[in-house]
Order: sequence, then C-alpha cells, then structure tokens
Amino acid sequence: MWSISFLLSAFVASCSLCSVYGLFTFSNYYHDHMVLQKSSTGTTVWGHSSKVGDVVHIKMNNSEVFQAVVKSNQIWEAKLTSPSDHGPYIISAVSSLGTIQISDVLFGDVWICSGQSNMEFTTNKLLNSSEEYSDSTSYQSIRFIHIHKQFSATPFTDIDSINSGWNTPNQRSLQTFSAVCWLYGKFLSQHFNYPIGLVETNWGGTRIEAWSSPDALKRCAGFSGRKRNQYYESHLYNAMINPLLRNTIKGAIWYQGESNAAHAYKYTCQFQEMIFDWRTKFSTASLGTTSSSFPFGFVQLAPWREGESNLGFPQVRWAQTSNVGYVPNSLLPHVFMAVAMDLPDFHSPYGSIHPRYKHEVAYRLYLGALAVAYHVEGINFEGPFPTSATIDNTHRHLTIEYDRGLHPIEVRSNQGFEVCCVNHTTNVCNAFDNHWVNVTMESHDFASVTLDVSTCSHGNHVAQVRYAWRESPCPFHQCAVYGKITNLPGPPFTFYVH
Ligand SMILES: *[C@@H]1O[C@H](CO)[C@@H](O)[C@H](O)[C@H]1NC(C)=O
Ligand SMILES: *[C@@H]1O[C@H](CO)[C@@H](O)[C@H](O)[C@H]1NC(C)=O
Ligand SMILES: *[C@@H]1O[C@H](CO)[C@@H](O)[C@H](O)[C@H]1NC(C)=O
Ligand SMILES: *[C@@H]1O[C@H](CO)[C@@H](O)[C@H](O)[C@H]1NC(C)=O
Repeated sequence: MWSISFLLSAFVASCSLCSVYGLFTFSNYYHDHMVLQKSSTGTTVWGHSSKVGDVVHIKMNNSEVFQAVVKSNQIWEAKLTSPSDHGPYIISAVSSLGTIQISDVLFGDVWICSGQSNMEFTTNKLLNSSEEYSDSTSYQSIRFIHIHKQFSATPFTDIDSINSGWNTPNQRSLQTFSAVCWLYGKFLSQHFNYPIGLVETNWGGTRIEAWSSPDALKRCAGFSGRKRNQYYESHLYNAMINPLLRNTIKGAIWYQGESNAAHAYKYTCQFQEMIFDWRTKFSTASLGTTSSSFPFGFVQLAPWREGESNLGFPQVRWAQTSNVGYVPNSLLPHVFMAVAMDLPDFHSPYGSIHPRYKHEVAYRLYLGALAVAYHVEGINFEGPFPTSATIDNTHRHLTIEYDRGLHPIEVRSNQGFEVCCVNHTTNVCNAFDNHWVNVTMESHDFASVTLDVSTCSHGNHVAQVRYAWRESPCPFHQCAVYGKITNLPGPPFTFYVH
C-alpha cells in the first residue's frame, strides 16, 4: 500500500497528466497548500502542455474564471482575479488532455527570500527552535516552499520537479527552512492576520553575480565576465530565479553580501542593478501582476570577527544603501533594510559569520516592510541618521545633528566615531588611508552628538567623519547611537565635513 501511494504521489508531483496523448501540468511551483498573491492586478497560474493551441479552462471551486491558450512555447498562463476572501480554494485546469487540480490554495502575500548562508540559516539553529516549532501551530496559514539548489548556464523555464511543494508549518517542515524568512513571515502574519507565502531560494557562500541576470551584470562598468565564483555569473539566477518570474509576488527579502566583501566597490552598482532587473523581469513575465517596483528588503551585513580591521564589510554595508546610508532613497526606491551591525554572536556554534539573533533581524525587516511595502502610517522603521556635521570655530568640536530633531536619540557608548585628519594641501581621504583617527563623543543632547576632534589640530583639519566603520563595530546592542523610541541602531555612515 505504501509503495503504491508513494509511486502515485511521485507521479502526480512530477507529471500530473502524462499520457500517450501528451503532457499537461501545472508549473512545478503550483501545489496543494500554496499561497497565491492576492492583488488588484491579478495573480498568475501557469503550466505546461504539449498541445499548442489547446484551450485551458481555469476553475476556482468549479466556477470557470479564465481561459488560456497553450502558446508555441508549450506554456499556458492564466491571470486570475483575486477573490474577496483568502480561501481555501480548489484550482483546476481543464484541457482536452484532461483535468489537473491543486487544493487548499490560499490568497495572501508571497515573499521571495534569497541570498547566501545567513538567509539559508535554518530554524533549527535558532536559540529557541523548539518554542518556534510549537508556536507554529498558531500560524497554519503561513505556507512555504524551498527551491531546490541548482545552477545552470542557461535559464530554466520551471523549477525542478524534485521540489517538494508547499509546506504547512510544523517541526519537520520548519527545521530546515530559513529562520529569517520564517520569522519575517510570522511577524507579517501576526500583523495582517491573512495568509503569507514564503519562497526560499538561496545558497550559502554565493556572490551577487550568481543571482544577477546577464542584463543586470552588463550594466555595471567594470564587469569583467571572469568566472571567479564557484557558482558562475547568472548561474543561480538561471536556475533558481528565472523559473519563478512568471509567478505573482508581493516582494523580496535578501540577506547576502559577505561573499562580495573582497570586491565591495563593485557592489553598489551590482545591487542596484540586480534589484531593478528582478523587478522588471518579474513584472514582465507575470503579465504585469507583480509590481515593476515591488518592495525589496535586505539585511545590512551583521558583524563577523571581533576586533577585525578589514574594511570589506563596512564597504558592503555602505554599498547596500547605494552610498547614501539609509533606504529608501532616490537610487533605491521601495527598498528597506534591517541594520544588523549591533548583533554580533562571536561564539556562534555555526561560526561568528552566522549570528543566531535572527528574531531581531526579521523584526527589523518587518518594520521596514510595514512602512515601505505596506505604507502603514506612523511606523518608525529607521534608526537615527545624521543630517549635518559641523565643526565649531575653535576646530575642537564636531557636532553631528540627527534627524532634524524629529526623533530623540539614545546614546549607549561614546565610541565608534573616526575623523579623517589631513593638512591644508588636501580635502580628500579614502576609506583605507591612514589619516583616520578615533575620536570620542564628549557630549550629546536629544538630537545631536558632539565629538572631541582636538587631536586633529596643529595645521591639520577634519575632512571627513565616519561612524561604525568596522567589521564588528560594537558589542551586542551597544553601538553609540539608537533611536530612543524605536530602539533601532543608527546605521553606519561616512561623510565629508564642510
Ligand atoms: C471553495 O472550496 C473549498 C474546499 O472545498 C471550501 O473550503 C471553500 O469554502 C470554498 N470557497 C468558496 C468561496 O466557495
Ligand atoms: C524566541 O526568542 C526570541 C528572542 O530571541 C523571542 O522574541 C521569541 O518570542 C521567542 N519565540 C518563541 C516562540 O518563544
Ligand atoms: C578605534 O576604535 C575602535 C572601536 O571603535 C577600536 O577597535 C580600535 O582599536 C581603536 N583604534 C585605536 C588606534 O585606538
Ligand atoms: C600634507 O599631507 C600630505 C598627504 O599626507 C603629505 O604628502 C604632505 O607632505 C603634507 N604636507 C605638509 C606641509 O605637511
């Protein structure tokens, strides 16, 4: 009995209707228990058929809602109007080759979770994983799919049939699922109380080049085409992103950049172009049902090694904001971030590059999503960020003003600031030169901090100031500047002082 039902389900999963007459299936993304994007622009359902020109009738709970025609590429694609409720629905597709169906289909928000090992970091590595498993019984309308790891030199049309389909949350399904992705979905589910679909597509140790299409890569000057990565340029894009493009999504979250720290100067362009390219391609391939400016959230790199002076991580953190320091900004519209530099875990059993504090990371992402993706009013989702840096006329005090005083700051340390101290022949410093000196905060009020820069006198002057410009800038929760109300750390910055 076991072997018969096993064979039957394997057959159904890989080929719902393969017969002498031809092949008729849903895409391998579409399975029982899935979440479809609820959207005023519609949601796509698609699949394969060997019979070009055949008509495919799409039904929701037996009412026909769409007719699709099998195109010359043997794909049929339907654009469904979202129902007014969240389901469940049975969705069936009927063609001259037969009938296929998926059941327990919910309507809600679908988020892609991508990146490298910190996104891949599984729920069973959380400090309280067993509590998370038992708590998951309350979140049965969060559903998730884990895209099988594959790479390819050419774009895949569909994900592999080896993909196990959509899961409901329980200990077995959750333990190998992304912790950040799950927790992010859980926070969204708590707030909105409707179904959330999570699509994990990530791979530890990978560089952004692998997740970028050739179109995105070629827009960055200096793109060499050299294949440094073990996973070549676009190879993960081809196998793990391209086959998802036809599906309607709400947005994406991203935790990646550690593997690009050695070439951080390239990341500004690469990141910006990848986001724009994903947005364009998802929107086009999904018949316009995914927004061409869909919200994109990322985790700004967390700390790694204690006391390390390598500047790759601070450079990537800055590049992740398009060298602005905060998001969204005009270069990165509809982008939000979770600052994570104050969450070191130097004794993580998974290596200090994998801090276990994923609840806070996911919560900070969720705050950004509420404000940027969902336009919820009154959400404070950003830590304090400077609006100006001014030297007084004694040249001994540098005052940094935060947020125009709109939100009070909380100071937890007087460390973490540096100034670039140069003589009258220049005003220019780069991140690596040796003119940077530590300075301490001598005072602060609710909206500004004042640094003692008297070490930079005697014919020298302060050309630049930077903050938290370290791989691991502070002990846990003890960076210098936080929002008093938000409890969020001010992000790192580097500025010229005029
Ligand atoms: C659709 O069918 C499912 C499964 O039978 C059922 O639970 C659900 O209530 C139906 N929804 C509507 C709107 O009829
Ligand atoms: C797990 O621990 C985090 C703090 O690290 C806490 O916020 C969260 O509520 C805990 N989860 C459960 C299900 O107890
Ligand atoms: C400067 O401050 C950082 C901490 O922000 C510390 O790690 C470093 O050792 C200090 N450098 C010097 C030269 O004191
Ligand atoms: C000013 O600084 C530059 C760069 O460090 C150095 O080469 C030059 O000798 C300095 N000039 C004086 C007058 O100290």
